[in-house]
Amino acid sequence: MTEKILILDFGSQTTQLIGRRVRELNIYSEIVPYNKYPYGREAQEGIIGVILSGSPLSVYDDNAFHIDLAAIRGRVPVLGICYGAQLMAYEAGGKVRAAASREYGRARLRTVDGASPLMRGIGIGEQVWMSHGDTITDLPAGFRVVASTADVESAAFEVEGEQSWGVQFHPEVYHSECGMQILRNFAVDICGAKCDWTARSFIDTTIAELRQKIGNDKVILGLSGGVDSTVAAVLLSRAIGDNLRCIFVDHGMLRLNEFRDVINEYRRLGLNVRGIDASERFFADLAGVTDPEKKRKIIGADFVAVFDEEARKITDARWLAQGTIYPDCIESLSITGTVIKSHHNVGGLPERMNLRLCEPLRLLFKDEVRRVGRELGIPDSLVGRHPFPGPGLAVRILGEVTRPKVAILQQADNIFIEGLRRSGLYDKVWQAGVILLPVQSVGVMGDERTYEQAVALRAVTSTDAMTADWAHLPYEFLAKISNEIINKVRGVNRVCYDISSKPPATIEWE
Ligand code: XMP
Repeated sequence: MTEKILILDFGSQTTQLIGRRVRELNIYSEIVPYNKYPYGREAQEGIIGVILSGSPLSVYDDNAFHIDLAAIRGRVPVLGICYGAQLMAYEAGGKVRAAASREYGRARLRTVDGASPLMRGIGIGEQVWMSHGDTITDLPAGFRVVASTADVESAAFEVEGEQSWGVQFHPEVYHSECGMQILRNFAVDICGAKCDWTARSFIDTTIAELRQKIGNDKVILGLSGGVDSTVAAVLLSRAIGDNLRCIFVDHGMLRLNEFRDVINEYRRLGLNVRGIDASERFFADLAGVTDPEKKRKIIGADFVAVFDEEARKITDARWLAQGTIYPDCIESLSITGTVIKSHHNVGGLPERMNLRLCEPLRLLFKDEVRRVGRELGIPDSLVGRHPFPGPGLAVRILGEVTRPKVAILQQADNIFIEGLRRSGLYDKVWQAGVILLPVQSVGVMGDERTYEQAVALRAVTSTDAMTADWAHLPYEFLAKISNEIINKVRGVNRVCYDISSKPPATIEWE
């Protein structure tokens, strides 16, 4: 049984970050909605500590989220963060009130009890990050302050005679300089974590589990050239060899030479992969269609149909494998406390085909998938790839998608991406690409007047694609790329750079 720290989510925006930080300590962590604590004894197996997250609510709100803390505290070490800490104090008879002045941002620890196991190694004056409108004004009996700031007396507390702690600040955010130390103190010193959850240990246990679960069955997997499906495929192929049957559908809107290059890389990795050129069908169905949503729906439906057709040829397959990762699976909370299940799979294929679903990466964050991929020996050209949308260049061609337009965009995109690689900028951005605009403009080349298309370059920095900033690429670099595109790509005479962040813009233009 893998040991784990369980994180109860009360709806904070930083709950996922708590999970990631704990995993950075090589300790497996799992996030569940606040009301899904496994009170049954057997289900608690492996839980070595519990962290209560923050929340947008106040503990005294009518609709506040409450749990039976008495059934958790004292049995297993508990760390409450922000709302979690307030909840611990409030439920034990303490007082929580709206703070006279709401405290957001940087604060410094003014007193620290270095003898408290949670605060070991933390110095006075260290920066912590606050984000709360409420404050604990009275601690209940048996609770003792172990750190304070100028404005917050109970910045951290412990419960005497128990392995229970609370912190008003957010140790999980980068701006809390001593945050990682506090989480380490809790998870390692207090909970006794062995810190043996590494990419290697994940690979070994997952391969053993896959072998046991799948046995001699055949498994179908759709490869996309992306990191997640690639890592899932290599893990599976290490577990079950050629019983893994991969299908890679080319819809004709991939990057320049991508289909050929990636298939070759897959074969070098020993994957049993069948490449299907279905581009005719996609282009035919997209003819005359300009509405972005219609384009996506057509591509999605065609993809499912082609994949379905191919998969049915593998008549004895029992499983459909997917590269679903953790952020797709975490059950998210709405403000009403209702659990929203965000998990979905490709077009309901497993049900339609009567296949069981196999998702070997469903417990990993993206950066962990990359680490596992590197440990599996997958080359950086695959593991370090930027995300690329399923519908491919179709969502980067505004208006109707045609083969000639794809050909123009592929060339421009290739110049941009190769330029990023050559300049050492590729790994510094989350994602980059070129958009073909439905705009023609006047230019002059030599003595000729031109009237050709404009393209936009898009490059963003991000950690999860939920929010993104436009990448501040050097002017000299942009100048070089613009020059090269206009000189080499026939039909393009103008290059723009997209300087919009997400929100309010999205990363893709469609
Ligand atoms: P947006 O444009 O919503 O994109 O800011 C966020 C991230 O998702 C990718 N993306 C897609 N990926 N199928 C995918 O597999 C899609 O239809 C799709 N649309 C957007 C986008 O490239 C970015 O990484």
